[in-house]
Amino acid sequence: MPAFQTSPGMRDILPADSARWRRLNGVFAEVVEAAGYGQIITPLLEDIGVFTRIGDATDVVTKEMYAFEDLGGRQVALRPEMTAAVCRSFAQHRPTVPWKVWYTGSNFRYEKPQRGRFRQFDQVGVEVLGVDDANLDVEVIALASEFFQRLGLRRVKLIVNSLGEPEDRARYVEALAEHFEQCDLSEQSRATLTKNPLRVLDSKREQDAGAIATAPKISEFYSAEAAEHFATVCAGLDRLAIDFEVEPTLVRGLDYYRRTIFEFQGATLDSAQNALGGGGRYDGLVEALGGPATPGIGFALGVDRTLLACEDEGVFASDDRRLDAFVVDVVGGGAAVEVTAELRAAGLAGDRGYDNRSMKAQMKLANRSGAAFALIVGEDEDANNTVVVKPMARDAGEQQTIPRTDLISHLQHELRNLR
Ligand code: HAM
Repeated sequence: MPAFQTSPGMRDILPADSARWRRLNGVFAEVVEAAGYGQIITPLLEDIGVFTRIGDATDVVTKEMYAFEDLGGRQVALRPEMTAAVCRSFAQHRPTVPWKVWYTGSNFRYEKPQRGRFRQFDQVGVEVLGVDDANLDVEVIALASEFFQRLGLRRVKLIVNSLGEPEDRARYVEALAEHFEQCDLSEQSRATLTKNPLRVLDSKREQDAGAIATAPKISEFYSAEAAEHFATVCAGLDRLAIDFEVEPTLVRGLDYYRRTIFEFQGATLDSAQNALGGGGRYDGLVEALGGPATPGIGFALGVDRTLLACEDEGVFASDDRRLDAFVVDVVGGGAAVEVTAELRAAGLAGDRGYDNRSMKAQMKLANRSGAAFALIVGEDEDANNTVVVKPMARDAGEQQTIPRTDLISHLQHELRNLR
């Protein structure tokens, strides 16, 4: 056992998983940049106040935050999510609206680690500030949906709901509290009830199922504006032929949501971790962070869970980047220095053996590297300024001796034929 290992809930992402990770980010960037979103990079660490504005009824803030005092005596926290940081950035820089940004990066929550639940996890997401239009809600949801499609995921379920305007929500919360007071709730839900009656709807405990089924529905409390906004969102999704279900008990775990909320669920993960991502409108958050009243909407998707779902559905496999050539130098390593440099300068992916190992040992490495060609430099080749080019795949033809000056063009030609 080594003296140190990663902390619970934290992982090393090793090759070739890291390549798949980067490719996923690339697909996301492609989808959202084609829709006019620009990338924002905010710090991992913020004044703790940025996150406490998310709400004091949120576990993410009250129980799970990595918060501490820095050496200058400031109360700071590692970000548990990025929406609040984006709103802080908006309030600080006051960009012109609509402000459409996307992000990728790590977040930290002190949760109980399990499959699909980590203490450091990555999200990709978007936020749009300054637009009230319900058709933007449709655009934002459609982007996430398009991203899952591009990865090849076919079993992702979209559920949507509306929490109404803040006043609708307030009246609903009151009615819910009254209802749940009279029910025989689980002990945990009793505790939740005192803090945030909405979150009782999130309970998956059997004892709470009856109380939840008979609870009043949010739709009974919508104002005319809220009902119209939500109807436009649903009609827009229909228009784009995006499958969804209205789920009246969907409330989401963060307190800042108003009106439209949505979640993407994977079919293959345990129900406690099946949310691949989610989001919604948070019209009061910029104001709470000291900016002007500004409507906002966005989503964040869990990279870890999305990749797990890909594994489960057998899509978006890691295609480890194959090397074009592997240099086997048995004349002391000097020729390999030059040949690998030439390869790389020409944009070919090349690697080499080190430590002057035997021909046999270097050929083994060449094999393991998955390179299309081994480039062998022995005594004769070194003396004649040539290289032996040996195709590595079975039945890929004979090896040839090529002058060093022709090596790159020869390889480029051969590689084109392989592809
Ligand atoms: P969230 O629902 O807290 O929303 O997180 C979004 C996604 O991040 C989850 O659905 C999940 O895939 C992933 N996630 C969350 N916690 C963990 C964890 N401990 N381990 C692995 N994955 C996790 C937000 O964060 C909001 N900021 C979304 C948003 C953006 N709303 C509006 N704009």
